[in-house]
Amino acid sequence: MSAATDGFKGRDFLRVADWAAEGLIAVLDLADRLKAAHGTGQEHRLLPGRTLGMIFQKPSTRTRVSFEAGIAQLGGVGLHLSASDLQLGRGETVRDTALVLSRYLDAIMIRTFAQSDVEELAAHADIPVINGLTDEHHPCQALADVMTIRERLGRLEGVRLAYVGDGNNVCVSLAEAAGLLGMDFVAATPPGYEPPLPDARLTNEPREAARNADVLYTDVWTSMGREEEREARLRAFAGFQVNEELLREASPGAIVLHCLPAHYGEEITEEVAYGPRSALWDEAENRLHAQKALLALVVR
Ligand code: CP
Ligand code: NVA
Repeated sequence: MSAATDGFKGRDFLRVADWAAEGLIAVLDLADRLKAAHGTGQEHRLLPGRTLGMIFQKPSTRTRVSFEAGIAQLGGVGLHLSASDLQLGRGETVRDTALVLSRYLDAIMIRTFAQSDVEELAAHADIPVINGLTDEHHPCQALADVMTIRERLGRLEGVRLAYVGDGNNVCVSLAEAAGLLGMDFVAATPPGYEPPLPDARLTNEPREAARNADVLYTDVWTSMGREEEREARLRAFAGFQVNEELLREASPGAIVLHCLPAHYGEEITEEVAYGPRSALWDEAENRLHAQKALLALVVR
């Protein structure tokens, strides 16, 4: 099989809103084809001999393993680069790191704190840079999320998507994807934890957001790097749990999503996560297929 289009070669994926709906749909369509090919054992080595470097300044299970397995399945190689083992961790500049890695690699994925570091890396790299999570964005997660919604509900246009919890990186990328793809997005957060989304529909009432929703989405209340705020957040987010009671507000066929890892008994109950409405495990699997599609489209 082929990626069918060269129109996206060389592009970065730093935040969802940098792309247009057409690009996101191209990723989703190819992701569906790659998922089917993977499931039936059909050959899909679209990136033979290419090397993906993966810089991690925060821990990861899904992002690391799905990118590393994904590039291998496409016929390439993934290099796990812990930031503390790179000279970057000893003060080598982002610019020099970008210039040098561009001479060895075909693409870079980076998980770090500041979005500005990812932007700087991309500005100086002449290979595609993919954001594997920053404090501000998690665009690869949003790809898998919308892939899962389309797979489960058969459409994206007009889908009512309610995010309940912290207005964090995951919330922002999801809202950007929803906006581009014609979904009806609302986020319910405690006061002071709203996402920085001036045009989004926001509320402080979880039940109001969940009412008639087709998709209920949540994420941890304390993201990586904010651990010292945990006690205050536990107090602020009481009442924002996705549980059976909140799920009863949603539409009868509603699905539940969570990017994982989960903190059971906090933002979500085990009953919901392992229950009949949960699409969490397909969502996690779809990280693999969506990112393989993204790589196949942008890597030269
Ligand atoms: N959802 C997600 O990005 O998981 P990891 O932190 O395990 O990569
Ligand atoms: N919002 C979470 C997502 C983890 C995948 C965090 O940034 O820690």
